[in-house]
Amino acid sequence: MEKGVVLKKGLFVTVEGGEGAGKSTCLDYVKQLLEQKGINAVFTREPGGTEIGEDVRSILLNKKYLGMSADTELLLMFAARAEHIDKKILPNLSDGKWVISDRFTDATYAYQGAGREIGPERVALIEDWVQGELRPDMTLLLDLPVEVGMERATKRGELDRFEVEQMSFFERVAAIYRQRAQAEPQRFRVVDASKVITEVHEQIKSIFEAKFSELGI
Ligand code: TMP
Repeated sequence: MEKGVVLKKGLFVTVEGGEGAGKSTCLDYVKQLLEQKGINAVFTREPGGTEIGEDVRSILLNKKYLGMSADTELLLMFAARAEHIDKKILPNLSDGKWVISDRFTDATYAYQGAGREIGPERVALIEDWVQGELRPDMTLLLDLPVEVGMERATKRGELDRFEVEQMSFFERVAAIYRQRAQAEPQRFRVVDASKVITEVHEQIKSIFEAKFSELGI
């Protein structure tokens, strides 16, 4: 598909958050809400979402590559994203389906831009090049204290190449996510993910109900 031409009709929603923020549980609940409303939605993830993207993901998360250069990491994220946009995101949006992605480019600003200290300018250059005008319509940020998230992630099992990073890395990630949410309040919806699950669900439900009524559905 030609870059810069966004023939979209469906809604593009992304879900972001630090390690252990509860994205999977949140996404399961979003799936229920959309099904109840009869909305045709495709759930996907980054890095990944396509055959090539999933192969790139396994390189990115593999601790065998602990010494990967920050630029290699940045470019692999965007290589997977280019494939994802071409093969899955734009075709489904054009078909009128909603696309719900577990992470997208806000994660690159947070992890590579801030975590790896590449800076936002270089991320923005590649974002424009790879995505053209494509940006999420709505982004849920699951926010919780870094130490709580890391404790949850550690309990989940073996840590991947990102999860073994220092706390200072995750503090930078969390700070940029919050900064981006503040800078774009019309796109971001911040969910307090430190609450018990029923309360997290309530927050998600009211976000989607507000969106449905805004769209008149
Ligand atoms: P997760 O989403 O399953 O937690 O794992 C994906 C990991 O990849 C997570 O540690 C965040 C990281 N990531 C980036 O560093 N940059 C990105 O652009 C994306 C999409 C993910």
